[in-house]
Amino acid sequence: PRPILLTRHGESRDNVRGRIGGDTVLSGQGEVYAKKLSNFVEKRLKNERAASIWTSTLQRTILTANQIVGFPKIQWRALDEINAGVCDGMTYEEIKKNMPEEYESRKKDKLRYRYPRGESYLDVIQRLEPVIIELERQRAPVVVVSHQAVLRALYAYFADRPLKEIPHIEGISWLHKLAQTPTTTKKHEHMHTQS
Ligand code: F6P
Repeated sequence: PRPILLTRHGESRDNVRGRIGGDTVLSGQGEVYAKKLSNFVEKRLKNERAASIWTSTLQRTILTANQIVGFPKIQWRALDEINAGVCDGMTYEEIKKNMPEEYESRKKDKLRYRYPRGESYLDVIQRLEPVIIELERQRAPVVVVSHQAVLRALYAYFADRPLKEIPHIEGISWLHKLAQTPTTTKKHEHMHTQS
């Protein structure tokens, strides 16, 4: 088996202000995480010449991976954070106060709720399909640096968690190590759901 390492980006400036979405750079803490991650990855994948680092196209994942040297880096738009549409840049309190109906519908069914002009978790799960196919095809280790909602979906897929749990998985900022045998073909249970 070869490892797939999943990690969230280091803390961003928007994370500090509690704003969702956006495309800000890392906070001081986030930079500390980036440094620690690069030490960890360089040590862990020292003899893995074919390993690669996958990020989203957003600054916070690119900057988190920036200090990791010696491996090719690939940017995937499909690894970008859930698109919060009209709520992008707002805090959860602002959404609750200014768009109470949206707030309540999301609370009721976080998996299916789609932000106006944005995405639902089911949308995210669907757009991850090519990433998952490529991850399963790789024979070498891959480090995926992405975002909370996206990592919940990826983690659930590889750790065999049910669809309904995905939006509620906690602790997603930790580094998750999942061992995978290249020949495994998993049932894409949550890849073929209707949104
Ligand atoms: O707050 C950080 C963040 O990545 C937001 O950009 C995103 O909207 C949110 O987390 C996703 O988490 P949840 O689905 O729990 O709101």
